[in-house]
Amino acid sequence: MKNRLLKKIKDHEIICGVVGLGYVGLPLAVEKAKAGFRTIGFDVQEEKVRAVNEGHNYIGDVVDSELERLVKEGMLSATTDFSFIKDVDFIAICVPTPLDIHQEPDISYVRASAEAIGKYLKAETMVVLESTTYPGTTEELIKPILESGSGLECGTAFYLGFSPERVDPGNLIYKTKNTPKVVGACSSDGAEVISAMYRAVLEGEVFTVSCPAVAEMEKILENTYRNVNIGLINEIGRLCNEMGISVWEVIDAAKTKPYGFQAFYPGPGLGGHCIPLDPYYLTWKAREYGFHTTLIENSMVINDGQPEYCVERAMHILNRHRKAINGAKILMLGVSYKNDIDDYRESPAIRVMRELRKVGADVEYYDPWVPKFKNMYGQSAESLKELTPEIVGRADLVMVTTAHHNVDYEMVQKNAKAVFDTKNVMADIRDRSNIEVL
Ligand SMILES: NC(=O)c1ccc[n+]([C@@H]2O[C@H](COP(=O)([O-])OP(=O)(O)OC[C@H]3O[C@@H](n4cnc5c(N)ncnc54)[C@H](O)[C@@H]3O)[C@@H](O)[C@H]2O)c1
Repeated sequence: MKNRLLKKIKDHEIICGVVGLGYVGLPLAVEKAKAGFRTIGFDVQEEKVRAVNEGHNYIGDVVDSELERLVKEGMLSATTDFSFIKDVDFIAICVPTPLDIHQEPDISYVRASAEAIGKYLKAETMVVLESTTYPGTTEELIKPILESGSGLECGTAFYLGFSPERVDPGNLIYKTKNTPKVVGACSSDGAEVISAMYRAVLEGEVFTVSCPAVAEMEKILENTYRNVNIGLINEIGRLCNEMGISVWEVIDAAKTKPYGFQAFYPGPGLGGHCIPLDPYYLTWKAREYGFHTTLIENSMVINDGQPEYCVERAMHILNRHRKAINGAKILMLGVSYKNDIDDYRESPAIRVMRELRKVGADVEYYDPWVPKFKNMYGQSAESLKELTPEIVGRADLVMVTTAHHNVDYEMVQKNAKAVFDTKNVMADIRDRSNIEVL
């Protein structure tokens, strides 16, 4: 099986399947098709499937014209019908791995997609989970589902592995194509063939590890590393504020050390589908071993408290203007979880909005990337259509909650009564008389 698959990869005879056509799956499907592998995308959302088949792009990191061309050329198509799994030789699973209401892993999407694949899996197929998840998911959860669904044995009739997706939406340098990839499979033959497949598609280095659990753990380590360092800087930031020191100046100074220090920045909290969620997958799994991930949990306590901390700071600013937060008009700039993208999942800005409303503030927002939002927690709002001097001037406080670049911050500073910049995006504005930074 190994040699036949390696030959098929070399001859570009592999047909690829990508399950889940979201922020991760669609760019991956496009790269595979661009590399000359016919690709079928699978999704449960009819509208995404229709959009792909009509050549319409809906993900920021995908080039519209490339998607359109690949669809026209017959290299890329999409379907909700999982029976087409029997036509593919390589399957990447890129479905969501959120948390449930108790902040525990919601693995239902991974399970459902594995069950759907298992029904139609044919012999000599490679299956790779790319969704971020707890160490053990591939071998403990996916493998038995695929084996019992298909009647095939992993390692002899199909290969199974885990390869974490590292896409960083909005990153102009590192995209799916040139980001190094880690692969861990259930057998060494599987690792060889799956790695060969990625090498045939991507420009980035492909690094093979001994088993799926190592690859699963390294992905959680990457994201937990960020979570913990952001927690550290948020804590230092709070202390600096008490001491009357600028944390931003401290970071700039620390950054001059050419080794042993990497800059992280404070902010209103963590956002997105990865950094705030993934450590919970680890802490949940750790409990199975009677292990408490105390450092990580402490970091999450700090980060999770940032929206409330920002509201407290906003309250102090308003207080200095003899204004109660209850009834104050607050204009928030930005609701997406990071700059220059439209993704607002787990956005800390939206949590800030919720906390502000809880204490009676009258909140509006402007975000050129997110004209409106509706999240899984039932919150929804619509952006102001434009940002004018009048709109800025009528707010008691303007809070910058996302560091978008396409906002006229000079105009904001000139017209605002008070500005609370939680991202230090206005660092270059000269007149700082009405600006307070987190
Ligand atoms: N977005 C990122 O920046 C990023 C980066 C690295 C890793 N990840 C990880 O990648 C995974 C996917 O994230 P995403 O941001 O692409 O999510 P997403 O919500 O954008 O896309 C997931 C897609 O899967 C589809 N789906 C759900 N259940 C399905 C099923 N049973 N069968 C087929 N399709 C199904 C959804 O309809 C959706 O289109 C997650 O585990 C995430 O943690 C995301």
